[in-house]
Amino acid sequence: MVEGLLVCPVSRLPLTQTSIEDARSALGGESVRVASGSPPNVAAPEEALLRSDNLALYPIVHGVPILIAPEMIAVTGSAAPVNTSRDPYREAYEEMDFYSNWAERETEDIQSSTAFQNVRRAVEAGGFLKPGWLDATYDAAAQADAYARMAPIEGKCVIQVGGKGTHAVKFLIGGASEAWLVTPVLGEALFARALAASFGVEQNFKAVVAIAEELPFLDASFDRVYTGGCLHHTITSRAIPEIARILRVGGRFGAVEPWRAPLYGIGTRVFGKREVGVNCRPIDARRALPLFEAFYDAAVLHHGAVTRYPFLALSKLGVHPGLDFMHKITRLDDRLSSVVSPLRRSGSSVALVATK
Ligand SMILES: C[S@@+](CC[C@H](N)C(=O)[O-])C[C@H]1O[C@@H](n2cnc3c(N)ncnc32)[C@H](O)[C@@H]1O
Repeated sequence: MVEGLLVCPVSRLPLTQTSIEDARSALGGESVRVASGSPPNVAAPEEALLRSDNLALYPIVHGVPILIAPEMIAVTGSAAPVNTSRDPYREAYEEMDFYSNWAERETEDIQSSTAFQNVRRAVEAGGFLKPGWLDATYDAAAQADAYARMAPIEGKCVIQVGGKGTHAVKFLIGGASEAWLVTPVLGEALFARALAASFGVEQNFKAVVAIAEELPFLDASFDRVYTGGCLHHTITSRAIPEIARILRVGGRFGAVEPWRAPLYGIGTRVFGKREVGVNCRPIDARRALPLFEAFYDAAVLHHGAVTRYPFLALSKLGVHPGLDFMHKITRLDDRLSSVVSPLRRSGSSVALVATK
């Protein structure tokens, strides 16, 4: 059973898991998928989550609840159509195929995937935050800050927002009692579940398809929220308050994101964007503001002011430095740029950390 802390992402009404036939007959008369603007992104559901007012259901596909508003099936006339080419769904729908195809390929040979290698390094490192836990080559210092905010992790209920679930699985390895992944991409959810199974932690892992701007969870459901490279794909003025809402008091948030540093525009014109084929809008001061409105204790910690862009440019030219080398460079960069504080604050890799 997946119900419990799950709610309708739009109305926040409770949901009950049932067969698709029972859910459809509970709706009574005619019902329609509320999305307009795109075909269904999922296969035929086997089960459903029925909303407590009996006016809507959400499909469960391959065991994963699809709790994204456009995929709601509602009694005709009871819900306004939702256009998937409009915010906050647009980007998620535009990129679904891209990330699903990637996830399908990686799931075929999961042990060769980078995600698998990264989790294995954490397993081999021993306890949470031992050397070997960091895996973000160009953003290791920001990841160290964000992971540190997750500590202590033992016995905590954790959720990763966006991505392929590597961090959620790592947090289980590190001692979390329960870990969730919420992603708009079903393929990523299935990949994450397979990854959890590869490390024998699937019993405590759950995945849900949804967007950060409309999280389908009761208030105060989690002790930790982590996101790596996904917050900048969201409308932060909606996603950050949602993240704060689902955290318990004393709960912690950590994110690793690109920051729109002064040379970003020139760099992307010369070398192209880092993420090819998908939208990428680095966070800036305006988009970070909701963090300070939603949390009493929040900070944006900058890294990589001097070296990150040159190394990213080199990677475009086929030069890929190793993890350990980049970690040393980033630390050196931090020390040098801290001497001149405005320089440090222009670092293009940031950790967003906060406590509720
Ligand atoms: C460039 S990838 C980052 C992947 C990430 N580094 C990871 O841990 O797998 C961007 C990710 O943003 C996520 N995403 C896009 N729009 C989102 C939204 N509205 N809410 C939550 N996640 C979103 C997708 O899951 C996608 O994998």
